[in-house]
Amino acid sequence: MKIDVIGLGYVGLVASACLAEKGHNVTGYDTNTEKLKSISKSDIPFYEPNLNELVRLTIQKQTLKLKKIENYGDLVADAIIIAVGTPLSKMGTLDISQLQVAIKWIISNYQNLPFIIIKSTVPPGTGEKLISQYQELTDKYISNPEFLREGQAIEDWKNPDRIISGSKSQKGYECIKEIYKNYTAPFVHSDITSSEMIKFASNAFLANKISFINEIANLCDKLGAYIDDVSKGIGLDPRIGPNYLIPGVGYGGSCFPKDVQSLNDLSMTHLQSFDLLQSIITTNQKQQLMPYFYLSEKFENLKGLKVCVLGLSFKAGTDDIRESSSINLINQLSNSEVVINTYDPVSIKNSKKILPDSVNFFDDPYDAINGVQATIIMTEWNEFQNLAWKKVYKSMENPKIIFDGKNFLNQKLIQDLGFEYFAVGRKIKSKK
Ligand code: UDX
Repeated sequence: MKIDVIGLGYVGLVASACLAEKGHNVTGYDTNTEKLKSISKSDIPFYEPNLNELVRLTIQKQTLKLKKIENYGDLVADAIIIAVGTPLSKMGTLDISQLQVAIKWIISNYQNLPFIIIKSTVPPGTGEKLISQYQELTDKYISNPEFLREGQAIEDWKNPDRIISGSKSQKGYECIKEIYKNYTAPFVHSDITSSEMIKFASNAFLANKISFINEIANLCDKLGAYIDDVSKGIGLDPRIGPNYLIPGVGYGGSCFPKDVQSLNDLSMTHLQSFDLLQSIITTNQKQQLMPYFYLSEKFENLKGLKVCVLGLSFKAGTDDIRESSSINLINQLSNSEVVINTYDPVSIKNSKKILPDSVNFFDDPYDAINGVQATIIMTEWNEFQNLAWKKVYKSMENPKIIFDGKNFLNQKLIQDLGFEYFAVGRKIKSKK
C-alpha cells in the first residue's frame, strides 16, 4: 500500500520505518527541515534502540522516503497516518491544534481523500467532533491508537498484543486489516469514540496499577512487610497479572501523566467525578518525591547535603525526560539547597536545558558519586545494577545512603557492604 505518515516524532517515525520494512511504500512528512535532514542521514534526533538502523535500511531500500510538508496539491496515497503531537495545554486539556492543521493540509493536498488514520492520542470524542467539522472525513476517518513503549517501540510495533481501530465505515476496517495483514495480533474494531477510549482506559488502568502497588509498598514499609513477595503473590492471580506491579518513585513519561490528567479533565467536563483518577495522580506526585521525604525525615536540614542522583530519563532505554520523576525530584532537592551531582548514560543533554544551573553533571557515574552522602537511583539503567559497589562505598561520605528508587538493586549485597539501604516497601534489615 502507499502510506503517508504525517509527523516524524517518536510514534510517526517508528510507524514509518516498521511499515516500510513490511514492504509498504511509505512517505514520511514533517514540517521541520532540520529534522528531515538528520533522519535522512539516519541520525535520529532522539534515542530509541534499533530505530536508526531500521530507518537507514528502509531508506536504502527506498520503501521509506522523506518529504517536507508544503503545498503540493496533487498527492496520492491509499492511507495517511497522522502522528503529530497532542501535548497537554496550560488548561490541562490535550491540545489538538497540530492535528487540525494536518487534517486541513490533507484536505487541500490530496487528489482523492485517502483513509486518514489517527495515531495521535486524542481524548475520546475528538474523532466525532472533527467529523462534524469536516464532513468529508465521515467515511475516511479511522482511529487507530498505538501502545508503543519507549525504549521497546520497534519490538512492540512488530509484536503488538492487539490492533485497535474505530471507524464509521466497514471500508475503514478493511483498510486497517490490509495495513496490518502481516501481523498476528487480535483485531478489535469499534466505533471511533470507543477506540479512542481504549487507549485512554489502558493507560489510566496501568497508571492505576502502579499507584496502587506504590501505596501497598508504602504500607509494607510501615508494617515491615516485603513488597517483592507481595507483588509476586498478587501477580500470580491471573485476574490481576504480574505486570506493572513494580513499585518505586512513580511513573513518568509522555503518556501516563498526560493521559490520566486528560481523562480526569474529560470526566469533569461531563460532570462525572471520577475520583479514582485524581487519587492516581496525587499518589504519583507524592511517590516521585519519596527520596526527598526520606532525606527530610533523616536530616534536620537538607541545605548543603551532598547527593548523587543516578538516572534522569523517566525510565531506562530512552532519553525522554518528560514528567520524569528524577527531574521533579532534583528540582525539589535544589529548592532545599542540596548539592546535587547527577549522571545518566543518554539524558544529560536534554536535562541540562531544564535543570537549575547549580546541578553538577558528570560523564561517569563514579565521579558523580565521589564524596556524596547519599546516592539515589531514579532510573533502572542496567549499568547502575552492575556498579562496583565496594568502590562506591569507599568513595562516599557518611552516612553512605543508597536510595533504590526502582527497587532493583541486590539489597543483601548493598547492605552487607555497610550502606544504609532504602527502597520502597523492602523492609529495612538493620545492621545493628
Ligand atoms: C506507556 C504505555 O506502556 C504504552 O502502551 C503507551 O503507548 C505509552 O505509555 P511508556 O510511557 O513508554 O509507555 O512507558 P512504560 O514502560 O509503560 O512505563 C511508564 C512509567 O511507569 C515509567 O516511568 C516506568 O518506570 C513506570 N513503571 C512501569 C513503574 O513504576 N512500575 C511498573 O511496574 C511499570
